[in-house]
Amino acid sequence: MSSPITLHNRVKEILYSITGITLTQNKDIMIANRLHKLQRDTNFTGSIEKLLDRIEEGSYVKEFINSFTTNKTHFFREDFHFVDLRDRVLPDFIKQSKEIKMYCSASSTGEEPYSMAMTALCAQEALKQKTKVSIIATDIDTNVLQYAANGVYRYSKSSKEFPEWIKPQKYFQKRVKKNFNDEEILIKIKTEIQKMLTFQIMNLNDSSYPFLEEEFDVIFCRNVLIYFSNEDQNNILKKLFIHLKMGGTLYLGHSENPHDLGDYTKRVGQNIFIKTKELTW
Ligand SMILES: C[S@@+](CC[C@H](N)C(=O)[O-])C[C@H]1O[C@@H](n2cnc3c(N)ncnc32)[C@H](O)[C@@H]1O
Repeated sequence: MSSPITLHNRVKEILYSITGITLTQNKDIMIANRLHKLQRDTNFTGSIEKLLDRIEEGSYVKEFINSFTTNKTHFFREDFHFVDLRDRVLPDFIKQSKEIKMYCSASSTGEEPYSMAMTALCAQEALKQKTKVSIIATDIDTNVLQYAANGVYRYSKSSKEFPEWIKPQKYFQKRVKKNFNDEEILIKIKTEIQKMLTFQIMNLNDSSYPFLEEEFDVIFCRNVLIYFSNEDQNNILKKLFIHLKMGGTLYLGHSENPHDLGDYTKRVGQNIFIKTKELTW
């Protein structure tokens, strides 16, 4: 049996080679817990070393990825980005009845792309005009993609998750509650909103992405770059940038930065960047 350090280094190497995720120091307890969970989820009866051999041979890769991603998210996280989307980006599209295409590049359980959709509907209601809105949402983790596609969430009446300008009852329907108290209910995103979104699996570590050049008016890439090395963050951003239209907006998470894109963008708000120049590699 290998020592915990050797075993954990091996896990880190496999995780990096598949996903690009770089686990920092002091993650030993987390790695140990997730390995146990992985063993349970796969019903693998052999040793962890044997399980890692199988993963390197191409088995249980999906389960391995799903075990090691961190999926923390919530509706309207860093809500000033949605305010910017509502007030600065969307009105021009809506007034000109021009389709807006948005991309959410690490959508986790769906709260972020559904927040983008609700923001678009809210802006249309305010202007009393409609336009076509489409949102592609991707993640590497198949469990969270399934969760997002179902669109069912716990909602607590005392929750401050939704900003005051969003009325959740407009966009969700109440679900029959089972084992829930009066305080917490289940809510399901309405079908007409679900139709605005396409969820698909995608690995940001891939060498290129399955989209057209300049396909998107808006790209959200938030709270995912932090899991990558600086060099890999820069490469991901450059790959994403190919798919952002000139004048389009890139939103990054609060502790993320645009790396080399700084010279090709104009900063218009807290981690909000407009594409001003084409990037030549
Ligand atoms: C902390 S969540 C952030 C969710 C959301 N963007 C937000 O800001 O609330 C990070 C997400 O990135 C996904 N992820 C991690 N590595 C990835 C990769 N290589 N390709 C695509 N998604 C990845 C994880 O599965 C997880 O759902």
